Amino acid sequence: MRAIRVALAGAGNCAWSFSQFVAQAHAAPAAPLPGLMCQTIGGYRLADVRVAVAFDVDADKVGRPLATAFEAPTISATRFAELDADKDAPVLPAPVLDGLVGPMGTVVTPAEETHDATSDSVAKAIVEHAVDVLVISLPTGATQAVRMFAEAALAAGAAVVNCTPERVARDEELSARFADAGVPLLGDDLRSHLGATTLHTALIELLLSRGLELESTYQLNVGGNTDFLNLADATRSASKFTSKANALRAAGMTDVSGVAGPTGYIGHLADTKLCFANLRARSVLGSEVQIDVKLTVEDSPNAAGVIANAVRAAMTAVDRGLSGAVDGPAPMLFKSPPRGLPESQARSAFLDFAA
Ligand SMILES: NC(=O)c1ccc[n+]([C@@H]2O[C@H](COP(=O)([O-])OP(=O)(O)OC[C@H]3O[C@@H](n4cnc5c(N)ncnc54)[C@H](O)[C@@H]3O)[C@@H](O)[C@H]2O)c1
Repeated sequence: MRAIRVALAGAGNCAWSFSQFVAQAHAAPAAPLPGLMCQTIGGYRLADVRVAVAFDVDADKVGRPLATAFEAPTISATRFAELDADKDAPVLPAPVLDGLVGPMGTVVTPAEETHDATSDSVAKAIVEHAVDVLVISLPTGATQAVRMFAEAALAAGAAVVNCTPERVARDEELSARFADAGVPLLGDDLRSHLGATTLHTALIELLLSRGLELESTYQLNVGGNTDFLNLADATRSASKFTSKANALRAAGMTDVSGVAGPTGYIGHLADTKLCFANLRARSVLGSEVQIDVKLTVEDSPNAAGVIANAVRAAMTAVDRGLSGAVDGPAPMLFKSPPRGLPESQARSAFLDFAA
């Protein structure tokens, strides 16, 4: 297969873990990789991916090679692997727009070069670096910046994977323009590989499949990376709460009192994320069933496992001539696809697409 050339919009923790996962695949292309659901998607192995270029605004990242940018103080995800051929991919400036609103603005100083960056300069760089797929991993709530990257990718003819909860794939006007241009679009809001949403929706499906009536549920999440720092600001986290509610609804949760979202920043946790979930349901004769779970994960590798699938799904969509919001793989990969499905149906739709 030919290489899939990827651009990273946002060289943060998810991008760092994803780049390491790609390097691990390059080192042993035929070896099965732990945590990778499909060794091939549309014929593509993870080893076929190349990180060609990245965009950021952070003075500690812009103008540096990718490997050096990932040494910035805001990077807290674990170093599992060294970058290989992609370590010298350039980190180019992007317009800041609303990227650093709230707490992110206290830990990131924008690079001088961002003042001259525009949507056009981003689109031009996407073309110059022959990018096939743009992965958007910007802070949640950066509505304008996410939109700018989607527009730049559309102008450049590159497929988009939107890891953020901002409306891109489920924006009908935007996805219609991607469809008209023959460019695929996957989103919105990455569903982590084995994360809170996946566990929670699987438990909801289990209870409903046994005929129980779900009465209430909550999912509380805390962590210490910059994603959680950003989400500690209520004006930034609104779209994440909406997105998680979309995922629970798609799992079959209707008319149920439920709360799910980021609930706290605890700096010393760094990239460790804790999820506490409770589900209360009625069973035989009205008897009560309660499930309480605590999940502990490393947040960014958990995202990397899904980005590894989403990038190859986007390239497969290109090969198959699909355009606009791509339905088949999206419910498995994202919390808020245009049309969500319960976990088991999402998995079979994804595996059908990957074959
Ligand atoms: N498990 C996960 O980590 C996970 C799961 C699902 C969704 N997500 C979503 O993915 C996104 C990225 O998460 P992360 O942990 O990598 O965040 P992060 O804070 O580590 O990285 C965000 C990066 O975006 C950069 N940035 C800010 N404004 C920019 C702009 N205008 N142009 C270019 N770059 C800009 C920042 O400098 C930073 O490098 C978030 O929206 C998050 O909610 C993450």
